Amino acid sequence: MTPFNIKTIAAMIGFASGIVLIDAAQAADDAAKAATTATEVCAGCHGADGNSIAPNFPKLAGQQKVYLLRELKDYKSGKRVSEIMAPLMATLSDDDLPHLAAYYAKQKPAPGVAGDAKLLTVGKNLYLKGNSKTDVPSCDSCHEEDGNGSGKFPRVAGQHVDYTLDQFRLYATGKRTNGARVMQAVAERMSEEETRAVAEFMASMP
Ligand code: HEC
Ligand code: HEC
Repeated sequence: MTPFNIKTIAAMIGFASGIVLIDAAQAADDAAKAATTATEVCAGCHGADGNSIAPNFPKLAGQQKVYLLRELKDYKSGKRVSEIMAPLMATLSDDDLPHLAAYYAKQKPAPGVAGDAKLLTVGKNLYLKGNSKTDVPSCDSCHEEDGNGSGKFPRVAGQHVDYTLDQFRLYATGKRTNGARVMQAVAERMSEEETRAVAEFMASMP
């Protein structure tokens, strides 16, 4: 190997590590920007750490990153319709969305809240076994036994009862259609009592 080649290689290595440093600095900037947006724009409704207090605003803390990103993109494009979320998404760029999804996925979810004991028993049974008479599948097959979800299957553990009931109403009436359509069939087949019971059970999950 000639000295020229060694120098070239050394220069290339230097160049490459420079890129790594720039990438790391960029990632830190993006994460900081997402945290600022979350605390300045989103916190009023979703809580600074994604553990919202108001029952109509979903908890985002510890939610699946893949799921969060898809929902954010769908609000932005109008595929998931929300009069509240749409104008907020219009103020953000497409590049902001993955960083916001990563921010909320990393936050620690607040523990669930126990509800009515009788409803919890009905809800737990439905969550783990479904209802074979009405063809309602068990929820744990997609949302996991602990309610944590995975990837595109959202975390449902600890979610507010009111928000869940709102979403079931939207699914059952064909107003939330951005997803895989699985939930529309699930929601249509469930009675009001079953829906309330499973919502209470999910809210109680740690
Ligand atoms: C004025 C209150 C308000 C503000 C501010 C707000 N949101 Fe929301 N957000 C809502 C409501 C209400 C919903 C449920 C809408 C629906 O039914 O689709 C929601 C839903 C969501 C969802 C879907 C959650 C799920 O489980 O499917 C995500 C993700 C989200 N918001 C992220 C954000 C981000 C990021 C910001 C800040 C840029 C933000 N929101 C600001 C009220 C708000
Ligand atoms: C075959 C897989 C599958 C099964 C079974 C299933 N879900 Fe889902 N669920 C999903 C997917 C995927 C989503 C993501 C959003 C979408 O597609 O609209 C979702 C979304 C949800 C949401 C909205 C979460 C949010 O933050 O907005 C709730 C609540 C929910 N499911 C509850 C249930 C309950 C309760 C059951 C059982 C009765 C159930 N799911 C069964 C796949 C499933």
